[in-house]
Amino acid sequence: MAYIDVEHMYRRYHTGGTEIIANNDVTFSVERGELVIILGASGAGKSTLLNILGGMDSPDEGRVVVDGRDIARMSRRELTAYRRTDVGFVFQFYNLVGNLTAKENVELASEIVRDAQDPAEVLRLVGLSHRINNFPAQLSGGEQQRVAIARAVAKNPKILLCDEPTGALDYATGKQVLQILQDMCRVHGATTLIVTHNAALAPIGDRVIRMRDAHVVGIERNPSPADIASIEW
Ligand SMILES: Nc1ncnc2c1ncn2[C@@H]1O[C@H](COP(=O)(O)OP(=O)(O)OP(=O)(O)O)[C@@H](O)[C@H]1O
Ligand SMILES: [Mg+2]
Repeated sequence: MAYIDVEHMYRRYHTGGTEIIANNDVTFSVERGELVIILGASGAGKSTLLNILGGMDSPDEGRVVVDGRDIARMSRRELTAYRRTDVGFVFQFYNLVGNLTAKENVELASEIVRDAQDPAEVLRLVGLSHRINNFPAQLSGGEQQRVAIARAVAKNPKILLCDEPTGALDYATGKQVLQILQDMCRVHGATTLIVTHNAALAPIGDRVIRMRDAHVVGIERNPSPADIASIEW
């Protein structure tokens, strides 16, 4: 059995008498330690899928097995524990706490799990040693995203889920952030899923999952993923 196994998963929204199917019969699997690129246009259902994998939302049908456990069948309490200890989540717009410093934002995550990484050390890994006592408003967008990554990674999560992590960043900073995520995956072994609409990122993944109109329309394995430095967009 694969590390992540999503089987015939559906997520439907009901608004004003109409039904929107955001994830329609989604099936794929991911091996432990892989870097996965989930590619698709706006509205394809990527965030819906990522939120379900992160235990922040539940499917209407199907199985979502992560490391041998079906999170679609978990109780609220089990899901809370899963989110807390197993998942690192990087949001598109950082979601940092404004009145806490960079270090305190990372501590927020590291303090809730056992065996967390040292916040100052993770901030050093993302190149922010000199900024640990700054507040989010004093940091650039790229720096804030790196704090968000440090926060997600500090917990030593089993899976690292990133929703458009470079969406709000310029080209060079975006590449820097991708490099950090690839390093976190390769060095720390976290199974990492990156959602993007940018097809140029496909070559860096061990696996590419393509979504269109709520469906998975293609899955490719990449035997020799490209270096971040070699891709352009
Ligand atoms: N809470 C909700 N209520 C109703 N419809 C929703 C809700 N959330 C998402 N949808 C719909 O589900 C579909 C998939 O949305 P989703 O946010 O997963 O797309 P996405 O691929 O992440 O898009 P983007 O690249 O723009 O972030 C869209 O049609 C969207 O309008
Ligand atoms: Mg989205």
